[in-house]
Amino acid sequence: MRKNIVAGNWKMNTTVPEGVQLAKDVCEAVAAAGELKCDVIMGVPFTHLTAVCETIGTANVGLAAQNCADHTSGAYTGEVSAPMVASTGAGYVILGHSERRGYYNETAEMLKEKVDLALANGLKVIFCCGESLEERENGTFKDVIAAEIRDSLFHLSAEQFKEIVIAYEPIWAIGTGKTATSDQAQEIHAFIRGLLTEQFGAQVADDTTILYGGSCKPSNAPELFAKPDIDGGLIGGASLKAADFMGIVTAF
Ligand code: PGA
Repeated sequence: MRKNIVAGNWKMNTTVPEGVQLAKDVCEAVAAAGELKCDVIMGVPFTHLTAVCETIGTANVGLAAQNCADHTSGAYTGEVSAPMVASTGAGYVILGHSERRGYYNETAEMLKEKVDLALANGLKVIFCCGESLEERENGTFKDVIAAEIRDSLFHLSAEQFKEIVIAYEPIWAIGTGKTATSDQAQEIHAFIRGLLTEQFGAQVADDTTILYGGSCKPSNAPELFAKPDIDGGLIGGASLKAADFMGIVTAF
């Protein structure tokens, strides 16, 4: 059985003390909520990883970085490598977010390197894909999504692929307040699971967690998460307030 996951993506928000406080609030709310129907992960800035890891302590909450370098070490000023991320205690890394692809020109080839380094260092990968508004409107969106997944993940073995979580995030829905309808999201999630079935077999595809991201909030999460192929969410804006985030965590 695949896992349900609700992962926060704080993006470039909060100072370290603010982030520690937010993490504390989330951990307390998770503890108070009792048995949850999903795993909870917080995706925090690099600078926060160590402190947030300490804050999480033994709480049942996972920790993710939002990126890692496409090299292991050396003269790459300003970069943070997968072994560095792993050494903070983080268990996950978000890779291929559309903001990184768009603003920092991350290519499929670079992401392939990052995926390999993350896995080699024991990190699970939350791999993002999704189309722009133009691609949605001109009908190429399925080809775009398939290429993003194929070009950075299909070199993996079925065994390696078990460490991958997919996040479908239509770019037109990110931070815009415009959510994909639950039917639109379900259609793409089923399409992605079909691609995974062809490449890795039905068992691996069935076991893969596929998250939806893009203006997901407590009010629309229940309808999205009720769809058979939507296994949770990658949450931006609504992950910055513990109450909103918990409203999504408890939507299952
Ligand atoms: P949003 O962002 O929830 O603010 O739309 C989602 C994401 O980019 O991961």
